[in-house]
Amino acid sequence: LNIIYVNSCRLWWFLYIFMFILGNMTSSAESGRPNVLFLVIDDLRPALGCYDYPKIFSPNIDKLASFSMKFENAHIQQAVCGPSRTSFLTSRRPDTTRLYDFGSYWRTHAGNYTSLPQHFKENGYFTYSIGKVFHPDEGICSNYNDDFPLSWSLPACHPPTQKYKMKQVCPGPDGKLHMNLLCPVNVSTQPEHSLPDIQSAGHAVEMIRKFSNNKSQPFFLAVGFHKPHIPYKFPEQYLDLYPISEIDLAPNPFIPKELPPVAFSPYTQMRIREDVKSLNLSFPFGPIPYDFQRKIRQHYYSSVTYMDSMVGKVLQQLEQSGFADNTIITLIGDHGRWSLGEHGDWCKYENFEVTTRVPMLVHVPGMTDVNKGKKAKFQYIDVFNEKPRKSVKKGPHLNVLVEAVDLFPTLAELAQLPVPPKCPESPFKVKFCTEGASFAQLIEYSSGIPWKSAVFSQYPRPSDYPQQNTDLPSLKDIRIMGYTMRTHHYRYTAWVSFNPVKFFANFSEVHARELYLRDSDPLEIYNVANLKEYSNLVSKLHTRLAKGWRHEVFDFQ
Ligand SMILES: *[C@@H]1O[C@H](CO)[C@@H](O)[C@H](O)[C@H]1NC(C)=O
Ligand SMILES: *[C@@H]1O[C@H](CO)[C@@H](O)[C@H](O)[C@H]1NC(C)=O
Ligand SMILES: *[C@@H]1O[C@H](CO)[C@@H](O)[C@H](O)[C@H]1NC(C)=O
Ligand SMILES: *[C@@H]1O[C@H](CO)[C@@H](O)[C@H](O)[C@H]1NC(C)=O
Ligand SMILES: *[C@@H]1O[C@H](CO)[C@@H](O)[C@H](O)[C@H]1NC(C)=O
Repeated sequence: LNIIYVNSCRLWWFLYIFMFILGNMTSSAESGRPNVLFLVIDDLRPALGCYDYPKIFSPNIDKLASFSMKFENAHIQQAVCGPSRTSFLTSRRPDTTRLYDFGSYWRTHAGNYTSLPQHFKENGYFTYSIGKVFHPDEGICSNYNDDFPLSWSLPACHPPTQKYKMKQVCPGPDGKLHMNLLCPVNVSTQPEHSLPDIQSAGHAVEMIRKFSNNKSQPFFLAVGFHKPHIPYKFPEQYLDLYPISEIDLAPNPFIPKELPPVAFSPYTQMRIREDVKSLNLSFPFGPIPYDFQRKIRQHYYSSVTYMDSMVGKVLQQLEQSGFADNTIITLIGDHGRWSLGEHGDWCKYENFEVTTRVPMLVHVPGMTDVNKGKKAKFQYIDVFNEKPRKSVKKGPHLNVLVEAVDLFPTLAELAQLPVPPKCPESPFKVKFCTEGASFAQLIEYSSGIPWKSAVFSQYPRPSDYPQQNTDLPSLKDIRIMGYTMRTHHYRYTAWVSFNPVKFFANFSEVHARELYLRDSDPLEIYNVANLKEYSNLVSKLHTRLAKGWRHEVFDFQ
């Protein structure tokens, strides 16, 4: 079904013009409303220059960051695409969307919740989706149509070349094509002579140009980039920026002794790739040889820089079309960051800091860009022509703990639309409410605003010991839910019994616990949950985790 949309992207655009000609568009738009550019990056952890990852070249996103509020402690609610996206696009947590896998559509399965783009659409915005915004691949999570027409003014557009994701298109040393994990390519030899993110950026540029011909209706444009999600398929010249001799291993590339097996993800999605298969890794724990670990990190970094260039093209068009000073821009990593060998682990599907923490930037014209001076904010920076700068110019940033579910109410407040109220205890019948909170005032005032001091995420498991479906269990197979809470000083995780028919988590039946003292152990290596001296702390944190986000007291931070 996606294919139909793919080939029709242009057609829909003509339809859009046609609707104008017929005068059929609702003209509820008030002039002076800000536009929104909503950027979602698949599998991006804060591996960016602006997040103190100096080895990574991301000059275009760093530029955006220098004119944005940068959240140092933003966390998603479940470390895998579909559940995380449905969660932040509805501002409900996985226990309310009841989506922990890829198997259901929230409106029919849990409740008919208003989505973020739907809210903007219902308030007069032209809303449009390019690339991976809702989780489209498996279809049903967003009703096989990216929730059109409720969320979008036109059907969502997907880059046609995404269909080669699982195809043999990567040249190997044997001169043949493979379905590899590591896949630098000569773009002109690829099917359709292009790659998904090149196509998405191109279409976004085209749309922004068209928007500039009609400024009477504000737009909400969502663009979802596919890289740095696996496979690492990107234009090969980006690899030259990262000589393998300069690539390091994760600082903690081993499985911690005290780690309960339920916490470990056996990275099955990676193992199905031909180049990984040929390593004959042992299941479930591996390990992956160090030289291949370096290569994975090198290819991840290259994919990040390639994606950064695509983001740069979109931002440049925003500037050229005269939208840089009336467009709110958010950029978020879609979900749990990718482990790059930390804890001897790879992929997402976990409850560690590396898998729940994401980059989050919010650009609000007139608020976060006050130091912009006279020059254009968003000129494209070509990493191959300009030597990437070692030190990145810093913009405003905040250390408070925020969550992806906070984005919806925040964007509503920033655009002066109705802000969804806090959801009641039983939220299933309520269309318009939030399980997050607006941080718009934190952006405006930076401090002096009461705010939460804990954030919550979760991940399901089918069993205590890793097995083939551990990374992505279907709802019916879930037996354990790992709930995790990050406070300023601790990460506490409890893996508790879960009934997938009644959606009931039994916090009295604990399979395993993890406690990390973040001040002394930021890499989360030493699980101290079972040490006697921490038993009081563990029981206090357990009670707080079981009560959940709803009962958190907002305090001056
Ligand atoms: C959800 O609500 C919308 C109106 O907001 C309605 O058009 C749609 O049919 C409803 N969907 C379901 C599954 O109830
Ligand atoms: C990429 O492929 C094209 C077409 O086969 C070829 O002309 C070009 O030289 C290749 N580029 C590189 C850098 O190998
Ligand atoms: C611009 O959009 C408005 C509705 O948002 C419509 O009434 C108007 O005709 C459009 N103008 C052009 C030139 O397309
Ligand atoms: C993996 O196993 C195959 C078949 O047993 C063997 O041919 C190959 O050399 C092994 N590869 C490695 C890296 O050990
Ligand atoms: C929760 O687990 C406890 C301990 O195993 C058990 O006694 C209790 O019946 C369970 N509660 C429910 C509602 O299943």
